[in-house]
Amino acid sequence: MSRVPTLEDLGDVSGKRVLVRTDFNVPMEGADDARIITDDFRIRAALPTIEWLTSRGAHVVCASHLGRPKGAPVAKYSMAPIRARLAELAPGVELLENLRFNAGEEANSPEFVASLVKNIDMYVNDAFGAAHRAHASIVGPPQTLPSAAGRLLQREVEVLGGLREKPKRPFIAVLGGAKVSDKLGVIESLLQVVDSLVIGGGMCFTFLAAQGYPVGASICELDQIATCKKLLDSGKSIHLPEDLVGLDANGNFATFGLRLPEGAKGLDIGPGTAAAFSDVIMDARTVFWNGPMGMFEDERFAAGTRTVAEAVAATKAFTIVGGGDSAAALAQFKLDDEVDHVSTGGGASLELLELGDLPGLAALRGAPNVR
Ligand code: 3PG
Repeated sequence: MSRVPTLEDLGDVSGKRVLVRTDFNVPMEGADDARIITDDFRIRAALPTIEWLTSRGAHVVCASHLGRPKGAPVAKYSMAPIRARLAELAPGVELLENLRFNAGEEANSPEFVASLVKNIDMYVNDAFGAAHRAHASIVGPPQTLPSAAGRLLQREVEVLGGLREKPKRPFIAVLGGAKVSDKLGVIESLLQVVDSLVIGGGMCFTFLAAQGYPVGASICELDQIATCKKLLDSGKSIHLPEDLVGLDANGNFATFGLRLPEGAKGLDIGPGTAAAFSDVIMDARTVFWNGPMGMFEDERFAAGTRTVAEAVAATKAFTIVGGGDSAAALAQFKLDDEVDHVSTGGGASLELLELGDLPGLAALRGAPNVR
């Protein structure tokens, strides 16, 4: 991948109005008109870029989406609570209203792009979590404005891009989450670069079904079984569970081998599997982890994800955790400081690993200051 411009490529920013696309899509709770931020990690993650610009005399205008309001204002997705937090962390920095309150954002309409760049001199994209969306605020401003990646985006590209280029071996990827279909592209692409792939979470049942095991009432994508079979027959090293934990047909907690009785539901990897996965992680030199091993939000089914998280925290390998649920699991187990890189993007990190590029990065490379 050719170089993406960085803040230094903007030249003198003093006195300039700089639009900074951030990903302030933070978790919130509470009544629609009194939302409370439950984790401000993504706001704090943008501070190095904001401070780099303001300390050099730039006026920063941040812009972000929040949730999926579908092109019209929705009280629960107002940026007001985020604006208040940002004012504490970075006084004097502006924050526009939720970009997705305007249908032109997702449609990438030229009119909306024009409204975003009006009275703006430069553009910085620091929204890694949204850089896989070809939306107006991601791909529009670099068509006309001098542009750069912010520090957060720059680091994500270095770390995740480096995984595809020169990982220290053994390089293993641990994938979980509910659906194989969501991750098929990245599984195929990872299989080309990793030494082995470890599969847990809801998606393991489609692989187990492909091996001929009965999966009871567990989540299973029937239309993906043939694809999983092909992947298993590819000769690549793929580790699957050897025991499981879940609920029996009467809804009682139970441990299982690989054959689930009718009506039984697998909801976590079993202790034998967790120990085996942990061994693989401890022996690796590079580990990429995306997706929980089970329904970790329920303490009865958290042990598998906890053991994997502890191994990722303890291994001497270079460790990268893809955002979303696995980052939330790390935080729940208070292990987020123990890994080398926690990505701020879930979908974006998978797409960058799969395709090696993102619409937001390609747009920055085409900006007038680097063309
Ligand atoms: C995320 O939370 O993964 C990003 O903010 C992207 O959000 P989106 O999936 O709604 O585009």
